Amino acid sequence: MKTPVLFIDKSRVRQNYRDLKAAFPDFRICYAIKSNSHSGMIEILKAEGSHFETASLGEIKHLKSLGVAGDEIILSNPVKAPEMIAGALAEGVTVMSFDAVEELQKFLPYREKAKLVLRIAVPNEGSLWPLSGKFGSPEYLWDDIFEFMQNNSLDLYGVTFHPGSQGELAVAWDAAMRIAWRCIDEARDYYQLNPVCLNIGGGFPVDLGRPIPSIKEIADVVYEHLHYWAEHEGYKPQELICEPGRFISGSAGYLVSKVVGVARREKNWVFLDSGVFCGMMETIDGITYPLKTTGVGTKERVILCGPSCDSVDKMFETEIPTPQTGDKIWFQGAGAYTTVYASTFNGFEPPTVAYLENIDNPDELFKLVD
Ligand SMILES: Cc1ncc(COP(=O)(O)O)c(C=O)c1O
Repeated sequence: MKTPVLFIDKSRVRQNYRDLKAAFPDFRICYAIKSNSHSGMIEILKAEGSHFETASLGEIKHLKSLGVAGDEIILSNPVKAPEMIAGALAEGVTVMSFDAVEELQKFLPYREKAKLVLRIAVPNEGSLWPLSGKFGSPEYLWDDIFEFMQNNSLDLYGVTFHPGSQGELAVAWDAAMRIAWRCIDEARDYYQLNPVCLNIGGGFPVDLGRPIPSIKEIADVVYEHLHYWAEHEGYKPQELICEPGRFISGSAGYLVSKVVGVARREKNWVFLDSGVFCGMMETIDGITYPLKTTGVGTKERVILCGPSCDSVDKMFETEIPTPQTGDKIWFQGAGAYTTVYASTFNGFEPPTVAYLENIDNPDELFKLVD
């Protein structure tokens, strides 16, 4: 097999789904297919009973082509082209996010059909890949949104947030749940809106060689709030949703790549056949992966980079045994946000995807590639 290859451990995908379900037993798990939309991944998760979170009509159509029903799909992109809203509804997808009054106007013709979920802004503290940049309604705009809904007979189906991807601090969920409660409380008390759904988004972290909270620790934080709401506020959401991406697909994937060249200058540059445009896009903003090479000898400090001619195609610095052209390398935790971002920039092939039942010893993967 030619590198780069993303190997997916099928049993790990199933286990990740089951671990999440065990931690969040009352939640409808909607796998965020943006993290890895490969059909093999969807098929494994469909068989586990997962539902799916999407950001576009393209993703919805992809799921439909794999036999997923419209009511097993939600659309959580807060800002959508009018055609996307109409198209999603035509496919039977009704749960949709929004985060601005302007977006609500697009729903006026569909008030009977669409189930509107308000995406609120929450701090993304501890997230290695924050998602608070352009989405999420800040608290000072909730009044305008609720007033518009009230005046236009639009129902508020629920509230959602995303605490940031690869969230490495459980307190982020605590902060988000507090803000979510303020939003639900305001909608109910002042606007007679009745949000019955809470969607806590994704963000659950994977092992990238850094300290992370367990899924159980995060679930405990979320459930503490849910129990408090039920006991002290008499409020229990009828529908609970989470949208894990990385947690399901990330740890199940090993990207295997090869050294195409070494250049020793002010730094020791190690060029791989994968790179920022070829699967390792998240490295541009600080994500690094545990790795191992087939190299031997003393360790050297190197900077890993991709094969393209663009200077942005730099990954990260690390220490590896003396690198040589032809060495193989695996990256752990690379099942999410790798192949989906990969392009053919400069004519380099994106990673292919291969499935194995188990990857107990990732070193064995070196034998599977040329
Ligand atoms: C709306 C939404 N839901 C879920 C996810 C998945 O997040 P993660 O992969 O961190 O679980 C994302 C990621 O971008 C998102 O934007």
